[in-house]
Amino acid sequence: MQYILALVCLLGSSYVQAAPAENKYLQAGDLPKCSENPDEAGDCVKEIMNTLIPRLRMGDPDLKIPSYDPLTIDRMSFQYASGAVSGRISVRNVKLFGFAEHKIDKINIKVNGDKVKLRIVSKLPKMNIVGNYKADMMVNQLQLKPKGNFNVTLFDVENHVSTDGEIYKKDGHRFLRLTDIDASPKIGDMVIKANGIFPDPELDELALNVANSHWRDIYGIILPETRNSWAPLMLRLINEALIHVPLDEFTKSSS
Ligand SMILES: *[C@@H]1O[C@H](CO)[C@@H](O)[C@H](O)[C@H]1NC(C)=O
Repeated sequence: MQYILALVCLLGSSYVQAAPAENKYLQAGDLPKCSENPDEAGDCVKEIMNTLIPRLRMGDPDLKIPSYDPLTIDRMSFQYASGAVSGRISVRNVKLFGFAEHKIDKINIKVNGDKVKLRIVSKLPKMNIVGNYKADMMVNQLQLKPKGNFNVTLFDVENHVSTDGEIYKKDGHRFLRLTDIDASPKIGDMVIKANGIFPDPELDELALNVANSHWRDIYGIILPETRNSWAPLMLRLINEALIHVPLDEFTKSSS
């Protein structure tokens, strides 16, 4: 869910034109140019994002940009410690399906000198996340080392992302670099499927029933607690993409 901003920027970078020059920058092409006035620019940036999201779903092999529907994450791990539960969970070969259906509802931009604040509200009707997981955790005094596959489906995701960034100059262009990000996705419903939690498949099913009836509580605790794991990854992904996006290419010259 917090990949949404990253996605948008990945889309941006996948639009980079193959040029012999060392620096490859995203070209506006047929996309609108936005006003320099932050109050007017929000709707324009929203239109650019809503155009690029479905257009570039297959990625661009020439530019070595992978398809983002599914979006693949090779590996990610989370540390968790609170109350009776602590441990580490790592996920591998994760595929997120559904991003191409993602729609931006509202973008709010605030600029103060070279500092930028963005607030983005977006909606996704359905997202399916599959992959392998491996955990090493203590629940009360009990050590568990579950390992298996998971398949989580999220319905009616409404994402609220806020970011801080700064504008810098390079190669005669202006670029945006994000310095902080936070996301608080609201989820309409969630269905969790997994195996390997317990050696016994019946216990697995029991655990899943518990997880599925308490997903709201689990999610509400885990999302903020794992922020230290996902926020830096998001910032890195987004910033890697933003180095290809010269802001002046997408703004009307104010004359
Ligand atoms: C994951 O579950 C959904 C529905 O719950 C199903 O449509 C999809 O095929 C499953 N994917 C995998 C890889 O098992």
